[in-house]
Amino acid sequence: MGKVAHFALHRTQICLASVTYRPIWSKRGSSSSILPCYIGAFLSSVDFFRALSTLTMLHIFPDASSIAAYVSRKLIDKIRRNREVVLGLATGGTMEPIYARFVEQARESKLDVSGLTSFNLDEYVGLSADHPKSYAAYMDEHLFRHLEFDRSRLHVPDGLATDLTEHCLAYSAKLEQCGGVELQLLGVGGNGHIGFNEPGTPFDSRCHVVQLSERTRIDNSRFFEGNAIVPEHAITMGLHEIMQAREIVLVATGETKAEILAQWYEREVTEDVPFTLLKRHPRAKILVDEAAAGLLPEHARRSAGALAVQVHGPADCASSLSI
Ligand code: GLP
Repeated sequence: MGKVAHFALHRTQICLASVTYRPIWSKRGSSSSILPCYIGAFLSSVDFFRALSTLTMLHIFPDASSIAAYVSRKLIDKIRRNREVVLGLATGGTMEPIYARFVEQARESKLDVSGLTSFNLDEYVGLSADHPKSYAAYMDEHLFRHLEFDRSRLHVPDGLATDLTEHCLAYSAKLEQCGGVELQLLGVGGNGHIGFNEPGTPFDSRCHVVQLSERTRIDNSRFFEGNAIVPEHAITMGLHEIMQAREIVLVATGETKAEILAQWYEREVTEDVPFTLLKRHPRAKILVDEAAAGLLPEHARRSAGALAVQVHGPADCASSLSI
């Protein structure tokens, strides 16, 4: 067991012991002298369960392709169980191997995707669906055009909507009307954004227009080669909507994600790092490769064995987590 869990467990045991025994040996003690012990026990238990749940949602895989195999298998399983499943989809380099693997496996297994409904997380304001750098075009290139989807069920925010506020409200309403998302895929930005919910976004936000941070625009400029400029604004599903998903799978791969993953691990839930909000989701998994896990504290990596942080080999990754 790692130091964090040990420490929290130790504190919990001491305080629980105090709570249990104090009333017996100190009948004369006032209830106010016992109170700090109860509070201490409670807080230590909170520490303990927080540390435990942070560790249990984290899964370290050897590389991005093992994660792709796992997530692809999970998507197929969801669709097989319910052909009308509603999925929340993400974009970015992280998702590319995942969609490639999914397309391959879906074709091989002749998966029927025609009943599936999807909602994409975000889109750049000012880019049309056929602009090569739009997320609509990304989805088409990496997923939609490869399988027999019912296009009317695939939703991506419209970057050219004339009334953006109205469009965001309609996007939220449509999502709700479809019963919400069963499984939400997420990547994470270098500054901890999810979707395009930048640091400081309120946790109760719904679909809205966001001004992209300098950091995000610089990070994403790698997709806008030549003279193309990263748009300044985007439409994004809100944090509230993301957290409403019945299940969330966030994927972080490569050493550029190591710093933000270490922050996610170390920090309390904070608006400064939207990614930390996932610690409050009862069914969120954080899937990372060895490179992204590179800056996790040693005790977290050691806990990987003893607690439920699992290190998967390529062969067992599809079967070792409950999907
Ligand atoms: C963009 C998207 C996010 C995505 C992030 C990470 O900013 N809006 O949804 O998670 O990039 O992208 P990448 O996977 O390319 O690192």
